[in-house]
Amino acid sequence: MISLHSLALPTAILIVVAITSSLRRRRTLPSPPNPPCIPFLGNYLSLPVRQPWTTYAEWSKTLHSDVVSIWVFGRLSIVVNTKEAAKELLERRSAKYSDRPFPIMTEMMGWAWATSLMPYTNAWRVRRRILHKTFHAAAALTYRPHQRAEVHKMLKRVYGDPQHFAYHVRSMAASIAMTIAYGVMEPHESDKILDIAETSVTMFSNAVFPGAAVVNALPFLRHLPAWFPGMGFKPYAQKCSELAMDMRDLPWEFFKKGLTDDASGFSMASQLSSKVEKHHSKEDREQAMKDACAVTYAAGADTTVSVLSTSILALLLHPGVQYRAQQEIEGVVGRQRLPTFEDRDSLPYVEAVYREILRWKPVTPLSVSRSVLEDDVYEGKFIPKGTEVFPNVWAMLHNPTEYPDPEAFSPSASYNPMAKDEKGEDIIVNPEYTDGVISHPLPFRCGFTPRDEQAEILLSRLGEADYEGLLLLT
Ligand code: HEM
Repeated sequence: MISLHSLALPTAILIVVAITSSLRRRRTLPSPPNPPCIPFLGNYLSLPVRQPWTTYAEWSKTLHSDVVSIWVFGRLSIVVNTKEAAKELLERRSAKYSDRPFPIMTEMMGWAWATSLMPYTNAWRVRRRILHKTFHAAAALTYRPHQRAEVHKMLKRVYGDPQHFAYHVRSMAASIAMTIAYGVMEPHESDKILDIAETSVTMFSNAVFPGAAVVNALPFLRHLPAWFPGMGFKPYAQKCSELAMDMRDLPWEFFKKGLTDDASGFSMASQLSSKVEKHHSKEDREQAMKDACAVTYAAGADTTVSVLSTSILALLLHPGVQYRAQQEIEGVVGRQRLPTFEDRDSLPYVEAVYREILRWKPVTPLSVSRSVLEDDVYEGKFIPKGTEVFPNVWAMLHNPTEYPDPEAFSPSASYNPMAKDEKGEDIIVNPEYTDGVISHPLPFRCGFTPRDEQAEILLSRLGEADYEGLLLLT
């Protein structure tokens, strides 16, 4: 959260805001319940900084309401904490709940081009169509050979350099997303762009949750000079904006200069060049393509890093689960090859592990917020047009009624001996996670060793045309 507690705005401004907000709130029905508010600031001072999704889930319990309100300087956000409420509001009433809030910081931080953040406009529809063409179910299958090749490359690197497994996982995720979007890029360039993207995503994350930046609630603040007390958000937004622009523009420039390797015309950028709607001007067309490619990279790389890091962490912490998954793979696949996408249906336990990983530590715990297009009433509570809506995915996936021990990682109740490091000593890992839109485990140690002689033989053949091998996380 950007600290703006030093904000020393004249009391007069606050009074104007308070009057405006009370006029806005004048209506007959109450809004969904909220934690105690104080005048002018609303819930601003009690907003959580660490893992906000857990606090919102607590508020939902304490207030006995699936949907809770958060007021910050007269601006209302609601958090939807149960699947039932999410289905009703976000699915059945999707026509009213599918806009995007577009807080002022999104624009100031240079993220206005990202489809997932754009309001429901024609520009959004053009980009959405492009993304649909690239990612509809059948199109997604065409990326499999490339994904598989990248996974093999990553395994080979982890085998040769297990200490830096996190780096290799990150490079693989970046390479998959980057290649889908632009074609194969030099690993060095791809890493550089991933650095930029990660920093920009983190900065963006820190400024979009309720109350994170007061300018979202009081847009006129952007017009005050940078030297004015509490204007720290301005240089912050400027820095983020530069990064977001680089993230969008640099890889596109690479593609245009022919510096990406895409001889088969496989990448989204190549495919799109000839396909985007004819009636748009060349500039519009190029802008839309550029945006769609960049959002693919921004949305695909960091999310994959997060989920793979959690997968490794979960298997490290639960060797029993790892063992059982390995047994299942061995029973179905044997020892002569690695599993493929085609084996998925025959591996129910591995499927359960994968789903449990996504449930245990959801990658986007508060998803991507939406905005209400017109006034609505839910269970007798008034939700005005323009309200920002946060689906609390974490709360839905940690609901004790559905998951009796929600914090436990339990695709099964198998035994859980302690993981060991290379010296045979217990590895103590306390899983801790970052707080942003995309939540990651903090760095942790993990060893990778071939599990037996057979695996060692297979791994030693890495680099041959079709190497085989399985790694054991210890
Ligand atoms: C576990 C991994 C992933 C998670 C949890 C995830 C989650 C999300 C979420 C929550 C959104 C916003 C949905 C919305 O409210 O509209 C989104 C959008 C998007 N994701 Fe993913 N994602 C993942 C992986 C990927 C990958 C691998 C790619 C592509 C390489 C990708 C491409 C996109 C794109 C292009 C959008 C924007 C779609 C639009 O705005 O129309 N995602 N993702």
